[in-house]
Amino acid sequence: MDHFTYRDGVMHAEDVPLPVIAEAVGTPVYVYSRATLERHARVFRDGLAGVPDKLIAFAVKSNPNLAVLKVLGAQGMGADVVSVGEMRRALAAGIAPEMIVFSGVGKTAAEMVAALEAGIGQFNIESEEEGVELAAIAAARGMTAQCTLRINPDVDAGTHDKISTGKADNKFGVPISEAGQIFGKLAGLPGVNLRGVAVHIGSQLADLAPLEAAFEKLGALVQALRGAGHEVTHVDLGGGLGVPYRVGEVLPAPAEYGAMVERVTKDWGVKLIFEPGRVIAGNAGVLLTRVVRVKRGIKDPFVIVDAAMNDLARPALYGAYHHFEAVAPKGGQMTANIVGPICETGDTFAMGRDCDALEAGDLAVFRTAGAYGATMASSYNSRGFVAEVLVDGDKFAVVADRIEAGAIMDAERVPEWLL
Ligand code: LLP
Repeated sequence: MDHFTYRDGVMHAEDVPLPVIAEAVGTPVYVYSRATLERHARVFRDGLAGVPDKLIAFAVKSNPNLAVLKVLGAQGMGADVVSVGEMRRALAAGIAPEMIVFSGVGKTAAEMVAALEAGIGQFNIESEEEGVELAAIAAARGMTAQCTLRINPDVDAGTHDKISTGKADNKFGVPISEAGQIFGKLAGLPGVNLRGVAVHIGSQLADLAPLEAAFEKLGALVQALRGAGHEVTHVDLGGGLGVPYRVGEVLPAPAEYGAMVERVTKDWGVKLIFEPGRVIAGNAGVLLTRVVRVKRGIKDPFVIVDAAMNDLARPALYGAYHHFEAVAPKGGQMTANIVGPICETGDTFAMGRDCDALEAGDLAVFRTAGAYGATMASSYNSRGFVAEVLVDGDKFAVVADRIEAGAIMDAERVPEWLL
């Protein structure tokens, strides 16, 4: 459930009519709802009420906006980060370092040093090579890095190939068949306290079965590690829970996920870490856009909006569906191709989509844009970076300025020898 609803025929974010935001900030603009973020954080937490010892670390990559992180931090969430940039954001938002976990296959030495110095709670090591390097860096500083080893369980998450991470040929984690041996090697190194294992098999999962299969494999591994004399106190179960993008689509609820986790992990005797991203932020944001013009097509008309693939990359990258509707529907319907202004055919949000009738100047939204939206924006076609707004009841604030194309050009230099 979200707080983007129609009142008197106009879509509001909480108590703010979207045309008011468009007027004040311009379009395209991402609009987030604080009440929705808080609700999703609460529902996820409640779903896991039966798990006694846990850390819920928001996947910062899904929405790294400082104001969003501040809202979620106040809900008791930690942060799952994959770069020093994300770590700095989490810290700046007031999230305690010990509630930060650092994932990712390509942590650089400089990032390891920065994270050690910040005192983060956990590194999820993704390879033997990384573990050896981290151990050396920490030991040289007389420090101990708290770590888990990320396991690739070779489970097909049944999601889009580009966001699947737990199959044997994906780059993430160590093969489960070698996990015992690698764990044994890394656990013996000074500089690391290898205290558990981690898994994350993919994103936008529509089915709990692959997650359960991965967790079962992890449970067996925990037993085997203990059998080999290792102490296992932490298990990181990653993120991945999908959200509805289409009207009427039903996905596993956090409560069902929580019940499955409780059932599978009840005898593990560990602290569990969760890294939800999309399920918290996805439906807490929309991309508000204005129709530039409607162009006749051979079959369906092209509704050309002022948002483009540089602002919301998911349709172009993954063929993703984002529900599209008018901010102030006039009653009619149309079948249209929804496209942006960028000069490539990939800049298409939808072909042959049934939607509210729209004409030039009308406002519309792409829904479910709060996760992997603004954070994946680029300035392609010199369009600048899209602005972000947070709504709270009847007030709103710009939480990320629009970065105009001119400001990006200002950061460029023409060397003297070209003059
Ligand atoms: N933990 C790790 C280690 C991850 O790699 C990810 C997402 C998450 C947690 C959070 O997953 P979530 O709960 O949001 O599914 N750009 C793509 C999604 C990429 C996900 C990458 N990893 C998209 O727009 O669909």
